Amino acid sequence: MTIDKLKESEIPQIAELEKLCFSKPWSEESIKSSFKNASNKFFTAIENDIIGYIGVSISADEGYILNVAVHPDFRGRGAGKALVNFVIENYKEKLSFLTLEVRPSNIVALKLYSSLGFKKVGERKNYYSNPLENALLLTKYFNSEKEN
Ligand SMILES: CC(C)(COP(=O)(O)OP(=O)(O)OC[C@H]1O[C@@H](n2cnc3c(N)ncnc32)[C@H](O)[C@@H]1OP(=O)(O)O)[C@@H](O)C(=O)NCCC(=O)NCCS
Repeated sequence: MTIDKLKESEIPQIAELEKLCFSKPWSEESIKSSFKNASNKFFTAIENDIIGYIGVSISADEGYILNVAVHPDFRGRGAGKALVNFVIENYKEKLSFLTLEVRPSNIVALKLYSSLGFKKVGERKNYYSNPLENALLLTKYFNSEKEN
Protein backbone atom coordinates (compact mmCIF):
# COMPACT_ATOMS: atom_id res chain seq x y z
CA MET A 1 0.00 0.00 0.00
CA THR A 2 1.23 3.49 -0.81
CA ILE A 3 -0.04 6.90 0.26
CA ASP A 4 -0.26 9.65 -2.29
CA LYS A 5 -1.72 13.14 -2.75
CA LEU A 6 -5.29 13.12 -4.08
CA LYS A 7 -5.54 14.31 -7.68
CA GLU A 8 -8.56 16.31 -8.85
CA SER A 9 -9.34 13.63 -11.48
CA GLU A 10 -9.75 11.08 -8.65
CA ILE A 11 -12.53 13.00 -6.87
CA PRO A 12 -15.35 10.87 -8.43
CA GLN A 13 -13.70 7.78 -6.87
CA ILE A 14 -13.65 9.50 -3.49
CA ALA A 15 -17.35 10.34 -3.85
CA GLU A 16 -18.05 6.63 -4.50
CA LEU A 17 -15.99 5.69 -1.45
CA GLU A 18 -17.96 8.20 0.64
CA LYS A 19 -21.23 6.53 -0.40
CA LEU A 20 -19.91 3.14 0.71
CA CYS A 21 -18.62 4.45 4.02
CA PHE A 22 -21.05 7.04 5.43
CA SER A 23 -24.79 7.39 6.04
CA LYS A 24 -24.47 11.07 5.03
CA PRO A 25 -21.72 10.99 2.36
CA TRP A 26 -20.05 14.10 0.99
CA SER A 27 -21.20 14.78 -2.56
CA GLU A 28 -18.70 15.00 -5.38
CA GLU A 29 -19.31 18.76 -5.50
CA SER A 30 -18.59 19.22 -1.78
CA ILE A 31 -15.41 17.16 -2.04
CA LYS A 32 -14.32 19.23 -5.05
CA SER A 33 -14.90 22.54 -3.32
CA SER A 34 -13.14 21.30 -0.17
CA PHE A 35 -10.25 20.02 -2.34
CA LYS A 36 -9.90 23.46 -3.93
CA ASN A 37 -9.59 25.14 -0.55
CA ALA A 38 -5.83 25.65 -0.18
CA SER A 39 -6.01 24.98 3.60
CA ASN A 40 -7.21 21.45 2.99
CA LYS A 41 -4.97 18.51 2.10
CA PHE A 42 -6.21 15.16 0.86
CA PHE A 43 -4.29 11.88 0.65
CA THR A 44 -5.19 8.48 -0.74
CA ALA A 45 -4.23 4.93 0.26
CA ILE A 46 -3.54 2.97 -2.90
CA GLU A 47 -3.43 -0.74 -3.56
CA ASN A 48 -3.72 -0.89 -7.35
CA ASP A 49 -6.75 1.38 -6.92
CA ILE A 50 -7.77 3.90 -4.24
CA ILE A 51 -8.82 1.93 -1.14
CA GLY A 52 -9.04 4.80 1.33
CA TYR A 53 -8.58 8.49 1.84
CA ILE A 54 -8.06 11.18 4.46
CA GLY A 55 -8.72 14.91 4.42
CA VAL A 56 -7.15 17.38 6.81
CA SER A 57 -7.62 21.10 7.23
CA ILE A 58 -4.58 23.09 8.32
CA SER A 59 -5.05 26.53 9.83
CA ALA A 60 -1.85 28.07 11.23
CA ASP A 61 -0.70 25.54 13.84
CA GLU A 62 -4.06 23.78 14.14
CA GLY A 63 -4.97 20.62 12.24
CA TYR A 64 -8.46 19.23 11.86
CA ILE A 65 -9.18 15.82 10.33
CA LEU A 66 -12.12 16.36 7.98
CA ASN A 67 -12.68 12.73 7.09
CA VAL A 68 -11.04 9.35 6.92
CA ALA A 69 -12.52 6.32 5.20
CA VAL A 70 -11.40 2.92 3.97
CA HIS A 71 -13.30 0.78 1.45
CA PRO A 72 -15.25 -1.93 3.36
CA ASP A 73 -13.43 -4.73 1.47
CA PHE A 74 -10.04 -3.43 2.62
CA ARG A 75 -10.69 -2.69 6.31
CA GLY A 76 -8.81 -4.22 9.23
CA ARG A 77 -5.53 -4.30 7.32
CA GLY A 78 -3.94 -1.13 8.63
CA ALA A 79 -4.92 1.33 5.88
CA GLY A 80 -6.94 3.62 8.17
CA LYS A 81 -4.17 3.76 10.73
CA ALA A 82 -1.57 4.34 8.01
CA LEU A 83 -3.55 7.32 6.66
CA VAL A 84 -3.94 8.99 10.07
CA ASN A 85 -0.32 8.25 10.92
CA PHE A 86 0.81 9.73 7.61
CA VAL A 87 -0.88 13.02 8.53
CA ILE A 88 0.65 12.92 12.03
CA GLU A 89 4.16 12.26 10.70
CA ASN A 90 3.95 14.88 7.96
CA TYR A 91 2.45 17.70 10.02
CA LYS A 92 3.71 17.12 13.59
CA GLU A 93 6.50 19.70 13.25
CA LYS A 94 4.09 22.35 12.03
CA LEU A 95 1.09 21.72 14.27
CA SER A 96 0.35 22.27 17.96
CA PHE A 97 -2.49 19.79 17.77
CA LEU A 98 -4.63 17.66 15.51
CA THR A 99 -8.31 17.35 16.32
CA LEU A 100 -11.43 15.58 14.99
CA GLU A 101 -14.98 14.52 15.77
CA VAL A 102 -16.15 10.92 15.95
CA ARG A 103 -19.34 9.07 16.82
CA PRO A 104 -19.08 7.38 20.26
CA SER A 105 -20.58 4.27 18.60
CA ASN A 106 -17.71 4.09 16.11
CA ILE A 107 -15.60 1.68 18.14
CA VAL A 108 -13.11 0.88 15.35
CA ALA A 109 -12.39 4.57 14.71
CA LEU A 110 -12.09 5.24 18.46
CA LYS A 111 -9.57 2.39 18.81
CA LEU A 112 -7.63 3.69 15.84
CA TYR A 113 -7.42 7.25 17.18
CA SER A 114 -6.63 6.25 20.77
CA SER A 115 -3.84 3.94 19.56
CA LEU A 116 -2.29 7.00 17.91
CA GLY A 117 -2.48 9.16 21.03
CA PHE A 118 -5.75 11.05 20.55
CA LYS A 119 -7.58 11.86 23.80
CA LYS A 120 -11.16 12.91 24.45
CA VAL A 121 -11.31 16.66 25.09
CA GLY A 122 -15.03 17.32 24.74
CA GLU A 123 -18.39 16.32 23.36
CA ARG A 124 -20.80 18.04 20.97
CA LYS A 125 -24.47 17.32 21.67
CA ASN A 126 -26.57 15.89 18.82
CA TYR A 127 -23.83 16.69 16.32
CA TYR A 128 -24.59 13.83 13.93
CA SER A 129 -27.85 12.96 12.23
CA ASN A 130 -28.97 9.71 10.58
CA PRO A 131 -28.78 8.42 13.27
CA LEU A 132 -28.79 11.29 15.75
CA GLU A 133 -25.74 11.03 17.98
CA ASN A 134 -23.35 13.20 19.97
CA ALA A 135 -19.81 13.70 18.70
CA LEU A 136 -16.74 13.05 20.78
CA LEU A 137 -14.05 15.64 20.23
CA LEU A 138 -10.62 14.00 20.19
CA THR A 139 -7.28 15.80 20.11
CA LYS A 140 -3.67 14.79 19.78
CA TYR A 141 -1.23 17.41 21.06
CA PHE A 142 2.28 17.84 19.67
CA ASN A 143 5.37 19.25 21.34
CA SER A 144 3.55 20.42 24.42
CA GLU A 145 3.16 19.51 28.06
CA LYS A 146 -0.36 18.30 27.18
CA GLU A 147 1.05 15.55 24.95
CA ASN A 148 0.69 12.89 27.64
C1 LIG B 1 -12.51 3.82 10.74
C2 LIG B 1 -11.83 3.20 9.50
C3 LIG B 1 -11.25 4.35 8.65
C4 LIG B 1 -10.69 2.30 9.98
O1 LIG B 1 -9.99 1.84 8.84
P1 LIG B 1 -9.25 0.40 8.81
O2 LIG B 1 -8.34 0.39 7.66
O3 LIG B 1 -10.25 -0.68 8.91
O4 LIG B 1 -8.44 0.48 10.19
P2 LIG B 1 -7.09 -0.27 10.55
O5 LIG B 1 -7.06 -1.62 9.88
O6 LIG B 1 -5.97 0.65 10.29
O7 LIG B 1 -7.30 -0.51 12.11
C5 LIG B 1 -7.25 0.58 13.00
C6 LIG B 1 -7.46 0.08 14.41
O8 LIG B 1 -8.80 -0.30 14.63
C7 LIG B 1 -8.87 -1.64 15.19
N1 LIG B 1 -9.80 -2.40 14.41
C8 LIG B 1 -9.75 -2.63 13.09
N2 LIG B 1 -10.81 -3.36 12.71
C9 LIG B 1 -11.51 -3.60 13.84
C10 LIG B 1 -12.72 -4.31 14.14
N3 LIG B 1 -13.42 -4.91 13.17
N4 LIG B 1 -13.17 -4.31 15.41
C11 LIG B 1 -12.47 -3.71 16.39
N5 LIG B 1 -11.34 -3.01 16.17
C12 LIG B 1 -10.87 -2.99 14.94
C13 LIG B 1 -7.52 -2.27 15.05
O9 LIG B 1 -7.23 -2.92 16.25
C14 LIG B 1 -6.61 -1.14 14.71
O10 LIG B 1 -5.77 -0.78 15.73
P3 LIG B 1 -4.46 -1.66 16.04
O11 LIG B 1 -4.10 -2.36 14.78
O12 LIG B 1 -3.44 -0.68 16.50
O13 LIG B 1 -4.91 -2.60 17.11
C15 LIG B 1 -12.82 2.35 8.67
O14 LIG B 1 -13.41 1.40 9.52
C16 LIG B 1 -13.89 3.13 7.97
O15 LIG B 1 -13.71 3.60 6.85
N6 LIG B 1 -15.06 3.28 8.63
C17 LIG B 1 -16.19 4.01 8.04
C18 LIG B 1 -15.89 5.48 7.98
C19 LIG B 1 -15.58 6.04 9.35
O16 LIG B 1 -16.20 5.69 10.34
N7 LIG B 1 -14.56 6.92 9.41
C20 LIG B 1 -14.14 7.57 10.64
C21 LIG B 1 -14.92 8.80 10.86
S1 LIG B 1 -14.38 9.67 12.31
